Amino acid sequence: MRFERLKSKYIPEVAAIEREAMAEPWSENMIASELENPNSTIVVGIEGERVICYGGFRRTLDEADILNIAVIKDLRGQGIGKGLMARLISEAMACGVRVLTLEVSEQNTAAIALYAGFGFERAGVRKRYYNNSFDALIMRLKLGEGVDKT
Ligand SMILES: CC(C)(COP(=O)(O)OP(=O)(O)OC[C@H]1O[C@@H](n2cnc3c(N)ncnc32)[C@H](O)[C@@H]1OP(=O)(O)O)[C@@H](O)C(=O)NCCC(=O)NCCS
Repeated sequence: MRFERLKSKYIPEVAAIEREAMAEPWSENMIASELENPNSTIVVGIEGERVICYGGFRRTLDEADILNIAVIKDLRGQGIGKGLMARLISEAMACGVRVLTLEVSEQNTAAIALYAGFGFERAGVRKRYYNNSFDALIMRLKLGEGVDKT
């Protein structure tokens, strides 16, 4: 797998992964507006000619929020998500980001385990955030403190 920055030609494939992975998927227009946002960095993982994962973050000063990250369903559980997360962390560090935060459904054990493996710690809870029923965990990682999961 190789990583590239998101380009417009990849948007339909990213949107298809979104629809497969997310309860409230981003539309192609929403993805295109992240592409235009100078504070957003979106990375896609490509195998051959096919986009197999993507993820990104949006910066505010020296902090950044992780946006959606997802791997094609058939290819999960093979270390792709871990490689993607490592790439996002190194891109964030290269942009001068010092703190990464994210929100994840308390139900999403795979994603929570992925984030915890990189040292993200629980920083708060947003009650009944998803479909007004599940809580969202807020997780936080200070960069430059020995993250090494590559
Ligand atoms: C979360 C997601 C990106 C993980 O990608 P992946 O390629 O399957 O993950 P990996 O194979 O790299 O696994 C990385 C770590 O995640 C955790 N993990 C992955 N799948 C898991 C599962 N089914 N159950 C528990 N932990 C799991 C483990 O900690 C694993 O590390 P380990 O192999 O050292 O134990 C993927 O499941 C996905 O696309 N989910 C749907 C979209 C989503 O929920 N995104 C996150 C919220 S925005």
